[in-house]
Amino acid sequence: MINKVRGTQDLLDLTLQNFILDQLKKHSQIYNFTQIETPILEHTKLFVHSLGEQTDVVSKEMYVFPAENDEDSICLRPEATASTIRAYFENNVEEKPYKVFSFGPMFRRERPQKGRWRQFDQLNFEVINTESISQDVQFIKMLNSYFSTTLKLEKYILKLNFLGCLEDRKQHKEALKNYLNSVDSQICDTCKVRKETNILRVFDCKNESCQNAYIKAPKLTDHLCKSCSAEWNDIKEKLQILSINFVQDPTLVRGLDYYNKIVFEFASTELGAQNAFCGGGRYSLGREVGAKNDFPSVGAAIGLGRLLLLVENNKHKLNIPENQPLYLILPMEKEQHNLALLLADELQSNKFCVDVLFEGNIKNMMKKANKIGAKKVLIIGQDEQDTNTVTIKNMLTGESIKVKQGDVIKSL
Ligand code: HAM
Repeated sequence: MINKVRGTQDLLDLTLQNFILDQLKKHSQIYNFTQIETPILEHTKLFVHSLGEQTDVVSKEMYVFPAENDEDSICLRPEATASTIRAYFENNVEEKPYKVFSFGPMFRRERPQKGRWRQFDQLNFEVINTESISQDVQFIKMLNSYFSTTLKLEKYILKLNFLGCLEDRKQHKEALKNYLNSVDSQICDTCKVRKETNILRVFDCKNESCQNAYIKAPKLTDHLCKSCSAEWNDIKEKLQILSINFVQDPTLVRGLDYYNKIVFEFASTELGAQNAFCGGGRYSLGREVGAKNDFPSVGAAIGLGRLLLLVENNKHKLNIPENQPLYLILPMEKEQHNLALLLADELQSNKFCVDVLFEGNIKNMMKKANKIGAKKVLIIGQDEQDTNTVTIKNMLTGESIKVKQGDVIKSL
């Protein structure tokens, strides 16, 4: 047997996924977002430049196709933000801010576990080329109301942190490094390397001894300059005005290098270790794709697989539209197949949901009709053929009637 690739999924029932997507499309329209699509294949250097060489995603998790030289190397995209900025710049989009969302598969060679796959779908939102922190607040509000009002999720939290500007981070890094040196014996070898290469990543460590050691580590929010500090307070105040609950998490740094200022995650304990089902923040990209300046932007991505796990527990609260009732045509013998094909054609042209069972005896056909939840079966045997009739059986009540072939639609 050939199995699926490790860390990928076969999705055999898309009812809930389609509901989530339909609702999200409607929701994002209300907030004036437009849907776009960018390629799954991108130049590897796009992500190396944008996400940062030292990040886990770039250093360990990318699916890269070998090329003669690094310049030509291409890869399967691990995320959509860098691609969206590339598309914004490459297509000379002049809209400002540019509010877009996209949906599609991302690829990261991570260790698979519940809620973590090597191919996973993201719903990605970006508000490109805007400095206003009120956009950040409106953006978080849009996501929050989608989760709480549209999907009626309750057991989740919104975690916030503020990474400040470059100068703030420089000062914080120095303080953090001094602190980490003082707790050197309590931290793992990986964190010792992170301390030298990408110090903020230490907070992502799952090691208990490290986590304990970091409780008293200097916080980024204690090293903010006057203007960043004012922005941080302003964001929190605006979120409160909009009645959005949040918790401040000083260790939330996110796994990608392009973030500055606000970062956030929506997380739920119902998900286990991989508890973030949406993450994002403010960032600045542009020069990485050849622009003269960076575009100040805010964005986030929802992990659709993780969101599905949450909504699955909750779906009784949602008005998920039921499938159209199914009418199943049962020709008893090959001789009735043509009649069945013609009847199916007539009903389908009139927008009825119809299928025909061409194989099996009546007993098996009825069993199948029950199993797949047909509303009515339309039986055509020799007798019906001879008398130009169809026997219609209501699967719920068991009641049967015989009608003229021309009267079938009227009697459904
Ligand atoms: P991220 O935090 O790497 O951010 O991913 C966003 C979400 O994608 C996560 O919260 C999670 O739900 C889902 N996700 C990530 N990795 C996996 C995986 N291996 N399996 C299943 N789900 C996963 C970004 O990707 C940023 N580009 C978000 C962003 C947009 N920031 C600004 N704009």
